Amino acid sequence: MGTRATIFLPIQRQTALFVNKTRVLYVCDACGGRSLKWAGQCPDCDAWNTLVETRLPDRSSPRQTAKLADGNSVHSLAELEGRSEPRFGTGLGELDRVLGGGLVSGSVTLIGGDPGIGKSTLLLQAAASLSASRPVLYISGEESLEQVGLRARRLGVGERPLQLAAETCVERMLEIADKFKPAVLVVDSIQTMFTEILQSAPGAVAQLRESTGLLVRFAKHSGTAIFLVGHVTKEGAIAGPRVLEHMVDTVLYFENDAGSRYRVIRAVKNRFGAANELGVFAMTESGLKEVKNPSAIFLSRHATPVSGSAVTVIREGSRPMLIEVQALVDESHLANPRRVAVGLDPNRLSMLLAVLHRHGGVAMFDRDVFVNVVGGLRVNETAADLPILLAALSSFRDRPLPNDLVLFGEVGLAGEIRPVYNGEERLREAAKHGFKRAIVPKGNTSRKGGVDGIQITQVNRLQEALDAI
Ligand code: TYD
Ligand code: MG
Repeated sequence: MGTRATIFLPIQRQTALFVNKTRVLYVCDACGGRSLKWAGQCPDCDAWNTLVETRLPDRSSPRQTAKLADGNSVHSLAELEGRSEPRFGTGLGELDRVLGGGLVSGSVTLIGGDPGIGKSTLLLQAAASLSASRPVLYISGEESLEQVGLRARRLGVGERPLQLAAETCVERMLEIADKFKPAVLVVDSIQTMFTEILQSAPGAVAQLRESTGLLVRFAKHSGTAIFLVGHVTKEGAIAGPRVLEHMVDTVLYFENDAGSRYRVIRAVKNRFGAANELGVFAMTESGLKEVKNPSAIFLSRHATPVSGSAVTVIREGSRPMLIEVQALVDESHLANPRRVAVGLDPNRLSMLLAVLHRHGGVAMFDRDVFVNVVGGLRVNETAADLPILLAALSSFRDRPLPNDLVLFGEVGLAGEIRPVYNGEERLREAAKHGFKRAIVPKGNTSRKGGVDGIQITQVNRLQEALDAI
C-alpha cells in the first residue's frame, strides 16, 4: 500500500476532529489497538475483522483529562514526606494482608479468579463489613439484587447498611456514585460493564479498557477505593489485555486446588505493598473464613514417616509457611521418562535431577519422576530446591526422611547449597510447629547458635546434605 495515503489520512481526520470535537477511530476488539483507518486485519495483533468504528470524545475536552493530583503544580519530594496514604481495614485480616495492610483511599484493585471460586462472596463480605463504618456501594452486573440479598442473608450480613445497585453502564454507575459518594465501590464484574462511548459489546477488549479507564479516573479524583472483579481466561490470566493490569494499582488472584475448600488470595502487583503476599481462606456454608495459621493446612502429617515426602518452609510475602513437597520416583517404560512437576517449575526439576546425578552420583535417567506441592500451592522460591532433591532421593531409595526434619536451601549447578533470605524466621516457624531437626545452608543461621528447640545441621555442598540424612 502506498505510503502517501497513510500520510494524508491523519491530516484529514484532524480537520474533521476540529469541527466535531470527536475523534473517529477504529478500535480492535481483540487487543484494544487503535488505528486511524479501517483495515481487514488489525495492525497490532494481526486478528481479522476486529476493527470497529468508534467515536471517542476529543482528548482535549476536560472530562477526558486524567487528573492524578491537584492541577499541574510541582512539589518537592520533601514536601510530600508527611503525606501517607490513608488506610483502613476491610474486616478481613487476610485480605488486608495481601492489600499491604489495609485498603488505600483512591486505589483500584482488580481481583481475578475462576468462576465460582468466591470472588463475589469475598467482596460482599468485605463490603458489608466496611459499610458499618463508611458508605459502601456494591454494583452487581452479574446477579440480580435479589440474588445478592439472598447471599448476604446466608452470609449473616443481611442487616448491614450496604448500598446495592444493579447496573452495567459505567456512565450511569458513576452518576450513582457521584450522588452517593461511597468510600468504597465494588464493581462485579468489569467484563459486564460497558461505556456509551464505544459501540462494541461488554467484555470486548476496547470496552474493558475504556470502562476501567473511566473508573480509575473516578477513583483518583474522588478518593473512592474501587474493587473490580475480573474473569480469567482458560489460561488463567485476567480476560482482556494486559493493559488492564497496568491501569490498576493492585492485582489480586483468587485461586484454589481443585476440590479443596481452601482458597489462596495472592497479590501479583501492588503499588501499596509487597507483591507475592498470600492470604488464606476456607470456604464454609456461611461464607469465607480466614485461616490465620496456614502452615497447619499445607502439611499432611503422616502417622509414620513415608518415603518421598519432605517438609520445607517457604516465605510468601511477609510470612513464612510450612509446606510439604512429595516425590514419586518410579521405573519408567518410556523412551523419554516423564518429569512431572505440579506446583513447581518443571525446568527447575530437570535441573535439580541433573545436579543430583553429577554431584550426588544418583542417576534417575531411567525413572519417571513426579513432584507435587501439597495443598495446591505454587512454589516459585529457590528455597524449595533442597527439599525437592531430597524428596526425590527418598522416594528413589524408598527410605523415609525423619518426621521431625525440615529443610530449605537453594541448590546451585556446581553442587553448592546457597543460603536463602530470612533463614532464622523460617527456622522459628518450623520450631513453632514442633520440628526438631533442620538441614539448612551454611550462613543461614547466625553465630549465636540458632533457634531454640531445633537441632540445626549446616551444609555447604550437596554431598554434605546427603551425608547428613
Ligand atoms: P461466588 O462468590 O459466586 O464465586 P465467583 O463470584 O468467584 O464466581 O462463589 C460461589 C461458590 O461459593 C459456590 O460454588 C457456592 C460457594 N459458597 C459456599 O460454599 N458458601 C457460601 O456461604 C457461599 C455464599 C458460597
Ligand atoms: Mg461472582
